[in-house]
Amino acid sequence: MWTSLNSQYVTPAKPLTNPQPVGGRSNHFSNDIPPVQTGPSPRIYTPFAFLFLPQVDGEQKTQKQKKEREKEKTKQKITVMAGDGEAGRHQEVGHKSLLQSDALYQYILETSVYPREPEAMKELRELTAKHPWNIMTTSADEGQFLNMLLKLINAKNTMEIGVYTGYSLLATALALPEDGKILAMDINKENYELGLPVIQKAGVAHKIDFREGPALPVLDQMIEDGKYHGSFDFIFVDADKDNYINYHKRLIDLVKVGGLIGYDNTLWNGSVVAPPDAPMRKYVRYYRDFVLELNKALAADPRIEICMLPVGDGITLCRRIS
Ligand SMILES: C[S@@+](CC[C@H](N)C(=O)[O-])C[C@H]1O[C@@H](n2cnc3c(N)ncnc32)[C@H](O)[C@@H]1O
Repeated sequence: MWTSLNSQYVTPAKPLTNPQPVGGRSNHFSNDIPPVQTGPSPRIYTPFAFLFLPQVDGEQKTQKQKKEREKEKTKQKITVMAGDGEAGRHQEVGHKSLLQSDALYQYILETSVYPREPEAMKELRELTAKHPWNIMTTSADEGQFLNMLLKLINAKNTMEIGVYTGYSLLATALALPEDGKILAMDINKENYELGLPVIQKAGVAHKIDFREGPALPVLDQMIEDGKYHGSFDFIFVDADKDNYINYHKRLIDLVKVGGLIGYDNTLWNGSVVAPPDAPMRKYVRYYRDFVLELNKALAADPRIEICMLPVGDGITLCRRIS
């Protein structure tokens, strides 16, 4: 995976049609908004595309640059399965993958994710795809992974920080037993309410306790109360990256011994392996340092076992052992 990520760095993705994020949101994630799409052939930005500042457009590449690019690829023994003709898949709405090959990712989606995706999740995914901030949604393969994981660990009492329109929330709610619970937090209720009718139709809304507002004070309150210590089977964190370390300090007390915390975006669009001087969008660079710090802290934390998976934008599972 490292080679693959590194190779992506060597081979910068095509710049965005409109690389400027949409502004106007008052949260930590306000920079993490997809660009407005313009022109006849809309490019929805991809995890890798927004890692690079638009410097060299594909069409403008010189022959020399192309040759160098090919040489580098060979040197790194990269198997690129998708040709230029297939490159479009990474531009799809909601497409999130760190896989080098678009074709391979599409294969995963088409053979094992979409055919088994519950109708409600499909509906929510399609609804979210029309939203201007759709890049924030959990990808379908990650949703499937979470759903399976929750069933495997027989999760009943869970928490989610960062809901957006609720795709991962729905994946969780569908996996829990009838009396399962999810404490879901987001500073933005509007987006949650977009997905809520789908969640209600799926018959799982009763499992969700949604709290509007920043998650940290709620966690502090729960720690102070004392009765929530060691009470969660699973906690999914998919929100403001600059607070992940702060979340971890609290969540480690709230998750039960043997329970799991999943931190999303721990490969941060591949930027974790980019050299410090690599051209990067401001917000990618800003959050990258927090993600790097988190990854180091998790690896050094003796209270947990960890497993970093290249699913979606990278998810690190932490199993509390003490
Ligand atoms: C990447 S999105 C979550 C995606 C979601 N898990 C899904 O499946 O679609 C990140 C969310 O975190 C929320 N957020 C940002 N800062 C937050 C905070 N301090 N507390 C709670 N939520 C926050 C944002 O409003 C945004 O909806």
